[in-house]
Amino acid sequence: MSTQPIGIFDSGVGGTSIYKEIEALLPNENTIYLADSANAPYGNKTAEEILELSIKNTELLLNKNCKLIIVACNTATTNAIKTLRTTYNVPFIGIEPAIKPASLNSKTKAVGILATKGTLSSALFHNTTNLYRNDVQVIEQDGDGIVPLIEAGQTLSKDMESLLKQYLKPMIAANIDYLVLGCTHYPYLLPLLLQLLPKHVKIIDSGEAVARQTKAILKIKALLNTQTIPATHEFYTNGNPNVMHDLLGHSYTVNVWNF
Ligand code: SIN
Repeated sequence: MSTQPIGIFDSGVGGTSIYKEIEALLPNENTIYLADSANAPYGNKTAEEILELSIKNTELLLNKNCKLIIVACNTATTNAIKTLRTTYNVPFIGIEPAIKPASLNSKTKAVGILATKGTLSSALFHNTTNLYRNDVQVIEQDGDGIVPLIEAGQTLSKDMESLLKQYLKPMIAANIDYLVLGCTHYPYLLPLLLQLLPKHVKIIDSGEAVARQTKAILKIKALLNTQTIPATHEFYTNGNPNVMHDLLGHSYTVNVWNF
């Protein structure tokens, strides 16, 4: 049993979608969240830059005594998690697009994936997709521009709507029945996506699976927090705290830290 916090980092506010799943499934766990919004988006950076930022975030969380780290960013997972796992002596949980359940369950044999350029061009993404695509057509779309709009607090703006219309068009034309969200920022687009996609299209993200995997690993390593006193949740951003407040709810305290 361990009362040490779970560390969570993302290129910005998107990983709060993962935090919410963790809080729901593991209510006893203390958490510390780092939003590296000053460096968002990671999706257009080189693999070397993404690794360097992921190392910086990891070391900040380890200095805060975290027992496990969730890389709540698809781009950082695909580009850095292998090195993080071999460098540091704590378990790392990463986020991978849910291609497997989508292609296994697709009836139209066409699945859309919306992710960053950094994720779509990574070896890990290619290997996973090739492993699970079977006879399904996978329509990949780089969500260029989406993360900066979310980081600017424009999650449901007119600009976002026209960007999404453009990105979803080839997927709708290919008659997809699953849309895989391959970036932790994207679950916040759900209201717009539901409005823009045909009714039969199911939207899946990896949040719940990540929370289940985190619980399983904590259990195996005897690191679950079994104390029933209220858990503490610390949030740090090097960007605009108001954007995080809007996504998390105003009862949370968001600390500004120029890390
Ligand atoms: C980004 O920073 O470009 C997106 C983060 C992600 O891939 O989840």
